[in-house]
Amino acid sequence: MQLSVLIKIAALWQCSFGLSQASEGAHYIAAVYEHNIIFNPDPKVPRSRQAALDHMKENLDIYEEQVAAAAKQGAQIIVFPEDGLHGFNYTRESIVSYSETIPDPASMSWSPCLQPERFNGTEVLHRLSCMAHKHAVYLVANMPDRQECDGTDPHCPPDGRYQFNTDVVFSDDGTIVARYHKQNLYFESEFNTPRECEYVTFDTPFAGRFGLFTCFDILFHEPVITLLEKYQVKQMIFPTAWFNEAPLLSAHQFQKAFATGSGINLLAANLHHPPLRMTGSGIFTPSHSVYHFDMETDKGRLLVSNVSLPTDSETGSPPTSEVCMKSQDCGKPSASKPVADGAAPGTFHGSMSSDNYTFVPVQGAEGDLTVCDGSLCCRLLYNGSHVPEELYAFGVFNGLHTAARQFYLEVCALVRCPGDTFASCGGEVTAGDQTITTIDFHLEGNFSTRYIYPSILTSGMQLDSPDRVGWEKESYVMSKKHISGGLVTATLYGRHYEKD
Ligand SMILES: *[C@@H]1O[C@H](CO)[C@@H](O)[C@H](O)[C@H]1NC(C)=O
Ligand SMILES: *[C@@H]1O[C@H](CO)[C@@H](O)[C@H](O)[C@H]1NC(C)=O
Ligand SMILES: *[C@@H]1O[C@H](CO)[C@@H](O)[C@H](O)[C@H]1NC(C)=O
Ligand SMILES: *[C@@H]1O[C@H](CO)[C@@H](O)[C@H](O)[C@H]1NC(C)=O
Ligand SMILES: *[C@@H]1O[C@H](CO)[C@@H](O)[C@H](O)[C@H]1NC(C)=O
Ligand SMILES: *[C@@H]1O[C@H](CO)[C@@H](O)[C@H](O)[C@H]1NC(C)=O
Repeated sequence: MQLSVLIKIAALWQCSFGLSQASEGAHYIAAVYEHNIIFNPDPKVPRSRQAALDHMKENLDIYEEQVAAAAKQGAQIIVFPEDGLHGFNYTRESIVSYSETIPDPASMSWSPCLQPERFNGTEVLHRLSCMAHKHAVYLVANMPDRQECDGTDPHCPPDGRYQFNTDVVFSDDGTIVARYHKQNLYFESEFNTPRECEYVTFDTPFAGRFGLFTCFDILFHEPVITLLEKYQVKQMIFPTAWFNEAPLLSAHQFQKAFATGSGINLLAANLHHPPLRMTGSGIFTPSHSVYHFDMETDKGRLLVSNVSLPTDSETGSPPTSEVCMKSQDCGKPSASKPVADGAAPGTFHGSMSSDNYTFVPVQGAEGDLTVCDGSLCCRLLYNGSHVPEELYAFGVFNGLHTAARQFYLEVCALVRCPGDTFASCGGEVTAGDQTITTIDFHLEGNFSTRYIYPSILTSGMQLDSPDRVGWEKESYVMSKKHISGGLVTATLYGRHYEKD
């Protein structure tokens, strides 16, 4: 009996980490590269294969330098962004010359670097595989995968091929070990949605198991929540090409919110292209972040970080108990005196990320505000030193988001209003706006979803960490004292996947 328990424990251990020699407190070195992509200026015009290769070579040359630089710093895995080799805005036809047929690693083992003659038309795979092999690192890149099909497949597209937005993973000897076809496309008419959602993981000798998903996927149940809950993945790889949408959905803000809310490690690589507000990458653990956000320059950036292996083999996602990140100083702010009823200013409506929020103004040195939308009530306790010309509002949204794609949200958000009237609340605050107001706050909401992604954004789009975050009885709470910069947003972003 005791023996069988031991074997079970050993099996669990193997399963969650994929290696037996992992010990508690183990670390590995991860790298992500925010790539300042060299674009194709005319993506809608079809090019020859050679012209496509010539273009991608410019980006591949930069990848090669970064792989070498990362390896020099001891990196064992490096992640590149979505669309990083080819760009975007292609048509179904114009992307063909950029695509390669990536064999399914579940059905064959192939190192393009070691066996270059095995398949034709795989120059990019070959180059990436050789980078991984030469520098002995795991490498994750995103590229278009083309899978030919014919009449024997009743779902075969009329042009005889599937085209997928694809993450491909090479092991440190160059072997293709994983291939993931993006499930949730974002205005990408050049690509097909896989008919069945793919749950893709791979195991490494230094850090156990990783799961893969891409960009817009992060907002949906499939494959992300299934990877977390059914496959028990504790580390995720996230190539993205993310247009920032402050104050709720800046790339690095949501990456950290996801890692904190899900209790996992996230390696996130974004494209770098400030004209389209693309920046924000990082290496996040539930308690530690290394990130990059830069709207000023047109330079790429390599981030390398020493990452702790997840030690908790329980289902940690989403957190079901309070996590107190600082042992001291975890209490609510002292402000608890409610503002007198007569003095309480009225509610108003404002649009944020295209959703109709119900706001209340946040005024005075301290206060206790509650604002509700349907069954969701959000409460804010605060005290602080408001700079009079910096307006703040506390808002709630509980309903269907309808821009781009429909999905259900439950959000409580304390936001800096960008203008000098409350009508501006919900509008975008940019990295250039300097904010100096500091507020100690305690936020809570009685969400009906379990999936909450908490974030704190400060002046210049910097990230801060809550002192306390997680469930307390029926509410999800987040509190912070002594914020590191002027407050831009404190948000509890809930996704009600079941209602979608
Ligand atoms: C792609 O399309 C978007 C939206 O139509 C446009 O703003 C952007 O400049 C285009 N970018 C490239 C690299 O073609
Ligand atoms: C690759 O292409 C060459 C020249 O077109 C052809 O001779 C060869 O058989 C092809 N190899 C494979 C594996 O398809
Ligand atoms: C990573 O961090 C751990 C714990 O702080 C430390 O023991 C280890 O030496 C670090 N590894 C590297 C390569 O910096
Ligand atoms: C937002 O919702 C309120 C209350 O339901 C409504 O009165 C208002 O017209 C809405 N605003 C917009 C822009 O839809
Ligand atoms: C949240 O609290 C409000 C006010 O007490 C209540 O009406 C509502 O039903 C609660 N919602 C949930 C999901 O428990
Ligand atoms: C909030 O109140 C506490 C207790 O009086 C005080 O220590 C803290 O500095 C205040 N916070 C701010 C931002 O003023």
